[in-house]
Amino acid sequence: MFTQTLTRRVLGSSLVDLLTGPHGVDRYTELVSPTWTRNDARARVVAVRRATPRSVTLLLEPNDAFGGFKAGQHVNLSVDVDGRRRTRCYSPASAEGQRLLELTIGRHESGLISEHLYRNARPGMIVGLDKVGGDFVLPAIRPRRILLISGGSGITPVMSMLRTLIAERYSGRVTFIHYARTPEEACYREELAAMPRVKVLHGYTRAPEAGDLQGYFDAEHLAAATPEPDAVYVCGPPALVAAVREQRPDAISESFVPPELSADPSGGQVTFLGSTISVVDDGRPLLEQAEAAGLQPASGCRMGICHSCTCRKTGGTVRNLITGALSTAESEDIQICVSVPVGDVDIDL
Ligand SMILES: Cc1cc2nc3c(=O)[nH]c(=O)nc-3n(C[C@H](O)[C@H](O)[C@H](O)COP(=O)(O)OP(=O)(O)OC[C@H]3O[C@@H](n4cnc5c(N)ncnc54)[C@H](O)[C@@H]3O)c2cc1C
Ligand code: FES
Repeated sequence: MFTQTLTRRVLGSSLVDLLTGPHGVDRYTELVSPTWTRNDARARVVAVRRATPRSVTLLLEPNDAFGGFKAGQHVNLSVDVDGRRRTRCYSPASAEGQRLLELTIGRHESGLISEHLYRNARPGMIVGLDKVGGDFVLPAIRPRRILLISGGSGITPVMSMLRTLIAERYSGRVTFIHYARTPEEACYREELAAMPRVKVLHGYTRAPEAGDLQGYFDAEHLAAATPEPDAVYVCGPPALVAAVREQRPDAISESFVPPELSADPSGGQVTFLGSTISVVDDGRPLLEQAEAAGLQPASGCRMGICHSCTCRKTGGTVRNLITGALSTAESEDIQICVSVPVGDVDIDL
């Protein structure tokens, strides 16, 4: 223990930084052990479960550089696929403050990372962790009656909230509605059934007779769950989020599916400087225009959350379609997945 603390102190010193420049201490320590890095948050996969036919659950042991998360937040996970580093957002399902991080990843047909992890994840695999964030979190002063709703893989942040509430012996009333296609595809069924003081209702869209609720979320489902919840949280496909917000416009929501974004084409010239490829703006986000031109920019969430696609704009103006903000400065970092040109633009890509 003493040796570990001493080692951490030595590695953290500015003298070590000076001696190991320009690469930095992590490039040397990772040769000893891939998770032995001071600045780069990484994790070792310590267990893999395929509890349903359409998901894989990874238990990760992060290194000291990982700073933890709040229940409901997401983290960028990076893995190497065919020699390229790929990043996607995942919301840990474990309770906050736990040493091990649990991620449950739903399979997407033709999905690059979800399929890769479903097929190849194994204990000992090293993954990168980065950029914990998100506002889909419970308030510090917990509401007295909480209704949590999720659909499909949207269960993960909600599971983290449930596990966190249970760990802190929350004494209010919590109800959870989860929608899946079939009982076999519903993650965490046994654990949910055994959860103390939580009312759990299941709805199955492809096996309605097997569920507690039939059909899609509506006023009846809300009434069956709990009368007048103080706070409602929903995570799932856009249609579920919309149905919940119709009943409860104040619901806090998150969706894993990127919205379809586009603007009127400006007709400007978009120049990707690294490749000297130029296209005429067609109104789609710059990421899509770059991909259509044959480029392969890094991307993750494709909705302005994870910052994986950040590029330097070296000329012109772009508009962020999520915030509406204009970037007019000559040299500025922008998220190309949610930015559209306003006239001619130069992107360092
Ligand atoms: C905040 C946040 C939290 C998230 N948390 C979780 C989580 O906890 N668990 C989870 O499972 N997911 C989560 N996601 C979703 C996750 O980030 C990925 O989007 C998901 O795993 C799919 O990634 P992928 O690489 O497998 O698919 P991608 O390769 O990125 O493809 C995305 C979609 O496009 C489709 N597609 C791919 N190629 C083609 C093609 N050629 N033609 C037609 N369609 C195609 C795929 O089927 C897939 O549906 C989260 C997303 C966000 C934004
Ligand atoms: S891909 Fe996540 S912010 Fe652009």
